[in-house]
Order: sequence, then structure tokens, then C-alpha cells
Amino acid sequence: MSNHIDAAPGAVAPLVLMPGDPLRAKWIAENFLDDATCYNNVRGMLGFTGTWQGHPVSVQGSGMGQPSLAIYAHELFTEYDVDSIIRVGSCGALVEKVGVRAIVLATGACTDSGMNRVRFEGLDYAPVADFGLLRAAYDVATARDDVATWTGLIFSGDQFYPPRSEVMKPMVDHGVLAVEMEASALYTLAAEHNRRALAICTVSDHLVTGEETSSHEREQTFGAMVEIALAAGLR
Ligand code: HPA
Repeated sequence: MSNHIDAAPGAVAPLVLMPGDPLRAKWIAENFLDDATCYNNVRGMLGFTGTWQGHPVSVQGSGMGQPSLAIYAHELFTEYDVDSIIRVGSCGALVEKVGVRAIVLATGACTDSGMNRVRFEGLDYAPVADFGLLRAAYDVATARDDVATWTGLIFSGDQFYPPRSEVMKPMVDHGVLAVEMEASALYTLAAEHNRRALAICTVSDHLVTGEETSSHEREQTFGAMVEIALAAGLR
């Protein structure tokens, strides 16, 4: 047991899928894993371990935002010897070409968070995905004809409701495709602990066109993303 995860040693698989929403973790366990059992309910941040195509896999909610994700990723890396964490989340698209329901494989994650400013004492660190996971996810995703796949930079913002959204323009002008709230901390922690991480996000809403997805569409694309994450993580 660690501070926030009530699991016995060995109860968490080397590969963890990490949605923000703990109920999404339950949904993934129920719909994609065989013989899944719940190993954590501390603060309702559900975690499950089961198997996918015979391989052990865990799925752990992270909560919203980098401070929350960092608690779970840190404990999984340091106390449960987790090798790979794949975030499976949603994002808001910042450029017209990336439509709702598309999947974004985050090559790197910019941020406005103070976490890395403190960690790197004012120097700018570039948090990036594990190349092996990224390449595997790209191969798996682009072999499917039911999802549009983009690879590129995303922005991990501290605020879902930023007071001045115009501040994102220079980011967009430098290739940032979408915004979410967790990937930058995940990539940084994986680097610190010499582990693997990738963030895969489905576009749930469009910050340029205003388009949104229905809950049914969100579930469908979320399912495709989970399949891509499982196949990529176990390659
Ligand atoms: N902002 C931040 N995170 C998000 C968004 C957004 O617009 N959409 C989905 N996750």
C-alpha cells in the first residue's frame, strides 16, 4: 500500500492505462479486460487489474490536472514498479484540421504549470513521449480506418477555464494541436524514473469551431483509443 493506492505489492501490472475519470477506469476494466479486480478505492480513485489477450494490464484513474496525476504516476513508478503508463483522455482541439472524435498522439506536452519550473529551477524542460510507445501507437492507430489520427504537440494547462484564452495563440502558431491537463507531468515523471509514458487523447470538443461530441460518440472514440493503447502498450 502506498499513500494513495491501497494495492498489495504485485497487484498492479507493468502496463497501466490511465484515464482522468475513475469511472472511466471502471468502464475500461469492465469492457476490455478479462477477470478484472479492483485494487484501489482510496478517495474513489479506482484502479483495476485484469488481462487483455492474456497479458496483465491495470487501469488507474488519475483525477484531473497535473498535481493529481503526479501523485498516482509517482506512486505507480516508485512503489509498484510500473514500467509504462499510457494516459487515455480527452482534449480540446486548437486547430481546425483536427476535428472532434480524432485521436491525438502527443509527441510532447507544453505547459503553463509551475511544476516543472520548480523542478528545473526556471530552466525549460521539454517533456516528450516514449518513442517506442509512440511509434507502436502510431502504427496501430493508422492501420484503423475508423479513427483520424494526428501526432504532434499538445498543451497541458492548469486551468480548464483560463481567464484569457488568447494566450494560446503563440502555442498554436508553434504547432500545438490540442489542450488537456495532464500529459506534461506524466512525461516528466516517466523521464525521472526512466519509465515509459504516452498520452493518447480523443478530441471531445473543438475550441475553434465550437463543435462537441455526444456522449455516445465520446464512448465510441474512447473505446477505439483504449484498443490502440492496449495494443501499443503490449507490443
Ligand atoms: N481544456 C482542457 N482540457 C480539456 C479540454 C479543454 O478544452 N477538453 C478536454 N479536455
